[in-house]
Amino acid sequence: MIDLQKNYSINARRMKKSVIRELLKLTAKPDIISFAGGLPAPETFPVEELKDVCVKVLEKYGLKALQYGPTEGVDILKDQLVEWAKRDNVNITKENILMTVASQQGLDLVSKIFIDPSDPIIVGLPTYLGGLSAFNAYGANLIGITVDENGLETDKLEIKLEELKKKGEHYKFVYVVPDFQNPTGTTMPEDRRKKLIELSQKYNFIILEDSPYRELRFEGKEPPSILSLDTTGNVISLHTFSKILAPGLRLGWIIAHKDIIDKLVVAKQSTDLCTPPITQYIAAEYMSRGLLEKRIEETNILYKKKKDMMIEYLEKYMPKHDEISWTNPEGGLFLWVVLPKNFDTEAMFQEAIDEKVAYIVGSAFDAYGKSKNCMRLNFSFANENVMEEGMKRLAKVIEKKL
Ligand SMILES: Cc1ncc(COP(=O)(O)O)c(C=O)c1O
Repeated sequence: MIDLQKNYSINARRMKKSVIRELLKLTAKPDIISFAGGLPAPETFPVEELKDVCVKVLEKYGLKALQYGPTEGVDILKDQLVEWAKRDNVNITKENILMTVASQQGLDLVSKIFIDPSDPIIVGLPTYLGGLSAFNAYGANLIGITVDENGLETDKLEIKLEELKKKGEHYKFVYVVPDFQNPTGTTMPEDRRKKLIELSQKYNFIILEDSPYRELRFEGKEPPSILSLDTTGNVISLHTFSKILAPGLRLGWIIAHKDIIDKLVVAKQSTDLCTPPITQYIAAEYMSRGLLEKRIEETNILYKKKKDMMIEYLEKYMPKHDEISWTNPEGGLFLWVVLPKNFDTEAMFQEAIDEKVAYIVGSAFDAYGKSKNCMRLNFSFANENVMEEGMKRLAKVIEKKL
């Protein structure tokens, strides 16, 4: 074979295998209790309901559902999503929506239209790994702003923006997961959301609000979405059916100003022409039956139970130590454990696998490869009857290192 390195594009040469995907391979063995993957609980997938919906879709829309569709997305689903947005006090029209092959494609398309190599892009420290890899694939220069228990620290962001402005750097967007952030489970309060919008006006950047977990609130009060607070058109908001219905549908949507949607549509045409119409009709039929609200309610009951269990076992089994703490999220899928500074969760990973328990290393979510003393735990996937044993195993691995 020829030397592929010479033929690969600069972008392809820059792409790295995802650490998470490699680690997840190790966690796939049946006897391992995994808190690693970001998987929804399979018991929330409405197989029977979807069976009926699929038959109906083929009867009602068969030929259209199996044909190529418009790049923008199928109208009857977009009509439903215009209504759905009103739950968040967001008033939009179909022109503000682009259907995507779930949010990961949204991240890729936004990167495709905004990022030139070495453009500064601002992200949370830590933040969603898939966001980092999408931005990296287009050569972004990632700039991290720390995340505390209230999400992205907007005061620190302001200082950084001022610095970048003085250097004449043209940063394009700030990426945030404001609700039950992946990986920390933290939520930005309203004042930080407002501050972010104010800064976007002052410093000329787009806010990329990635919102897969917003509906998965099982306690506490919801702050308004960033999109709903915005009056400037500076917000691009990513949504997905992955965590509220089923990730296998690979279906999501972007809400943004019409001009941005138009550009994203062109970008999407060279990627995949259109999002599969059949999944869009399935989602539309599912929503039109009022089933999505019910699905989310039931999912949240289950996730609250699972999160409470995880917190209970963390409290019970984790070594008592001043420098060991964890977040206690009011929704979503994840919590974040911080261990003493000298801990290295990468080095500890093999020991955890030997004890047959798995987590995701903190550094995977850190644009600078730091956060080595942290780990992300997923509470949605593991079966309730193995949660306690899993926490005992994890606590044992940590105890040994203390
Ligand atoms: C913050 C965030 N954004 C985007 C995604 C991608 O999800 P999907 O492509 O399934 O919509 C995930 C998946 O875990 C996520 O946590």
